[in-house]
Amino acid sequence: MDKIKVGVLGATGMVGQRFVQLLQGHPWFELTEVAASERSFGKRYAEAVGGRWKLSADIPEAARAMVVKECAPNLDCRLVFSALDADVAGPIEQAFAAAGYAVSSNSRNHRMEPDVPLLIPEVNADHLALVPLQKKNRGWKGFIVTNPNCSTIHLVLALKPLQRLGLSEVMVVTMQALSGAGYPGVASLDILDNVVPYIGGEEEKVERETLKLLGALGESSVRNASVKVSAQCNRVNVNDGHTEAVSVRLDAKPGLEDVKQAFRAFNPLRGLGLPSAPSQPIIVREEPDRPQPKMDRMLERGMASVVGRVRPCPVLDYKFVVLGHNTIRGAAGAAMLNAELMKQQGYLD
Ligand SMILES: NC(=O)c1ccc[n+]([C@@H]2O[C@H](COP(=O)([O-])OP(=O)(O)OC[C@H]3O[C@@H](n4cnc5c(N)ncnc54)[C@H](OP(=O)(O)O)[C@@H]3O)[C@@H](O)[C@H]2O)c1
Repeated sequence: MDKIKVGVLGATGMVGQRFVQLLQGHPWFELTEVAASERSFGKRYAEAVGGRWKLSADIPEAARAMVVKECAPNLDCRLVFSALDADVAGPIEQAFAAAGYAVSSNSRNHRMEPDVPLLIPEVNADHLALVPLQKKNRGWKGFIVTNPNCSTIHLVLALKPLQRLGLSEVMVVTMQALSGAGYPGVASLDILDNVVPYIGGEEEKVERETLKLLGALGESSVRNASVKVSAQCNRVNVNDGHTEAVSVRLDAKPGLEDVKQAFRAFNPLRGLGLPSAPSQPIIVREEPDRPQPKMDRMLERGMASVVGRVRPCPVLDYKFVVLGHNTIRGAAGAAMLNAELMKQQGYLD
């Protein structure tokens, strides 16, 4: 199979670096273009990233010498992954879609637009059917598909198997890693010895996106799920991995083992052969002190959501903790898996 040429917009940032890393040796996609701001373009990738390369493995050899381009739709590729700063992502992604590129975006800008799929392949693969409508509505030759916010994705992966158990109310308190704020992110003097109980816009994103993701596809948009969601989001002194304490009301009143079994049995992508799909999307841990970011965030190459401490809740019905890697499954890995689903379903032909 000829590999599909792909570019990364915002390739020098925290999420962009993950894209460059995950594309190394990808069986379906070949990185042919890296693009970023005027601070970077014209430089070799290794020079443009410089000391901002924050991943433990070195910059992939194939990317080091690539020349960073401007984020304009004249790149030699079929698909672009967008890891652009949200201040600029909106019009740039639209320009690429109008020019015929498939755009798999991490940024928040287009997520809630009615004809744009907000996608998690295990949760709502059918929402990809919005793509032809989007192209028709906007007269675009290409299209935009988005992945959710880094906290939302792990929360919703855990909630989806509970939907058939009558999920009706959700309370979530997040403890979010520093890499989620990009680089240089939160000042060290603000976060050392501290917890910051505010991340601008985050609670609204978790509450809104969850309803669209769990919603049902209608004729021209998604009907939001009728679930009440309340989120409180905190920044904590952890490098990578968002931890979320969740309580749920389940109207079917299942037993504890039914809830755990629903998590364990959840694997809608089994057999599809998508290269980035985890073999087990939800891992259930039984130890009383797990999951923990340092120990569990890299399970399934950072693509799993790790659930633990599943137990009855005296206020709602059950409570549990879910943990997941924020720049892999919460960002670049999510967009990669979305693009693999697009390819598998013929959207990149
Ligand atoms: N970090 C996470 O865990 C996470 C998770 C989910 C979603 N996201 C979303 O993903 C996006 C990227 O986040 P990040 O954490 O990687 O941010 P970041 O580290 O600040 O990187 C931002 C990227 O955008 C580029 N950029 C900035 N201004 C630009 C302009 N005017 N034109 C073209 N490129 C420009 C930067 O290029 P230069 O290096 O040249 O300045 C850099 O490559 C954001 O929308 C964020 O909300 C992040």
